[in-house]
Amino acid sequence: MNVRLWVALDVSSQSDADAILARLDGHRDIKVGMELFYSAGPEYVRDLIGRGYHIFLDLKCHDIPRTVARAVGNIDRLGVELLTVHAAGGFEMLDAACQAQGTLSLVGVTVLTSLDSKGLADIGIFTPIAELARVQAQAAAKAGIAGLVASGGEVQALRQLWPTARLVVPGIRRTGDAAGDQRRVVGAAEAVRLGASDIVVGRPITAAYDPKRVLEQFLRELSG
Ligand code: C5P
Repeated sequence: MNVRLWVALDVSSQSDADAILARLDGHRDIKVGMELFYSAGPEYVRDLIGRGYHIFLDLKCHDIPRTVARAVGNIDRLGVELLTVHAAGGFEMLDAACQAQGTLSLVGVTVLTSLDSKGLADIGIFTPIAELARVQAQAAAKAGIAGLVASGGEVQALRQLWPTARLVVPGIRRTGDAAGDQRRVVGAAEAVRLGASDIVVGRPITAAYDPKRVLEQFLRELSG
């Protein structure tokens, strides 16, 4: 399988983002999240696409169906490749998002990788993470979404449940990397072995002394 490695550009300005890109030696698969999008805006995304980057726009849309559908339509016109919506938005929202998509692919975020069972219990959710991810996956698949974002802890079960899904795994760390705010982390090769088609790597690359060298290590790990 041709696994994609998306580098998460979690910075707050266009100049910081460009500085990281300059140190990634032409790597084209870039994830723009809400931190950068809310500061640099759609213009910057258009600019990146014009410069040949493939953009995974991680805005985690979650609202009433009509609002999400109209947002998806607007984002589609930017020319991004992938967009996230929260699977917790419910079947009708996911269905409306799918109806509104043109060329982009939608992936549903199941349970955030920063949440563990205690974090879920704090907001009144007592369903085990694996079960929650499974139920959300079924709703997303029924709505016609391309795939899911899930942690390394759930990806194997989701792959069994949904063999053709695009399964995007963030929370990727090498041994010794700081987990930061992530609670459920996994190695890159391990994520792929468990069924990931795409992985997202942020701080281990972007905060490294030599981002290009670390990116190459990850790419070697994925190809080896
Ligand atoms: O720096 P780090 O590798 O932890 O970055 C992970 C990226 O993946 C962040 O941009 C985060 O927003 C995103 N993400 C995540 N968990 C999800 C969905 C997206 O960590 N469930």
